[in-house]
Amino acid sequence: MGDARRALVTGGAGGIGRMIVKRLAASGYHVSVVDIAGAEGEKLTAESGAVRYTQGDVTDPKAVREAIEDAREGRTLHAVVNCSGISPKRDGRNPLLTEIDLAEWERVMAVNLTAPFLVIQQAAPHLEDGVSSIVNIVSIMAKLGSAGPAGVAYGPFSPSGAHYSASKAGLKNLTASAARELAPRGIRCNAVAPGFVATGMAAATSGKLEATTVAQVPLGRAATADDVAAAVWFLVSDEAQYITGETIDVDGGWCPD
Ligand SMILES: NC(=O)c1ccc[n+]([C@@H]2O[C@H](COP(=O)([O-])OP(=O)(O)OC[C@H]3O[C@@H](n4cnc5c(N)ncnc54)[C@H](O)[C@@H]3O)[C@@H](O)[C@H]2O)c1
Repeated sequence: MGDARRALVTGGAGGIGRMIVKRLAASGYHVSVVDIAGAEGEKLTAESGAVRYTQGDVTDPKAVREAIEDAREGRTLHAVVNCSGISPKRDGRNPLLTEIDLAEWERVMAVNLTAPFLVIQQAAPHLEDGVSSIVNIVSIMAKLGSAGPAGVAYGPFSPSGAHYSASKAGLKNLTASAARELAPRGIRCNAVAPGFVATGMAAATSGKLEATTVAQVPLGRAATADDVAAAVWFLVSDEAQYITGETIDVDGGWCPD
């Protein structure tokens, strides 16, 4: 275990995060998780193969520092995955711009954008030159923005609100900055943009809107959490050593470039 590559997955107790933990642990990574999910999160991540769980809110710089120190055990970190995120809904549908108050807007920005900034900033000194990499989980909605109510939306329907889309667009751009700034050290930073994943936060989407969304996907189904985890696994691997600043869409062809 002393020589194992160390990984930190934020939001690792969630539907997608647990599959990322599982993939990395199965590849021999020594995986740590930071999540706000409490004892249940600790149990679930242990079942996925995580060796350590730190209870914490990633919008709190102190909690981020503690999670990084726990994960690196005095050594370097090889993989950092920003997977924590929130997407507030209204009775299973996307909130409209006029329904989002300032507190909700600021919380979404704090969790989905500011927290990954804190994690990248604090982890960077502990990454290994020429080896380590960061992956941010964004969303296909970073390209699209939110949509109106189902039935009157133009283009692909979005099950998330404008705050969520804006935060993920910001994180996609932060990915490019981190990639460019860390490149001189040979450290890579990429993003994975899932479409509709049939797990985790998508469980709060109403069945009707899920059907509307999945009907727009050319491959004819929602993503699995493991579809997303496979892309993360590839990006942190040595197979991806010439890929940085990139966002890989894992959306079944829903929103092609
Ligand atoms: N499910 C989808 O359809 C979908 C689509 C596109 C992108 N995503 C993104 O994938 C990631 C994982 O989503 P998921 O579907 O697994 O949702 P999820 O709700 O199951 O997982 C999110 C995890 O983040 C944790 N978390 C939330 N706020 C936190 C905080 N302040 N501090 C620490 N941990 C916190 C939660 O406890 C949870 O374990 C998110 O970033 C999400 O935006 C999901």
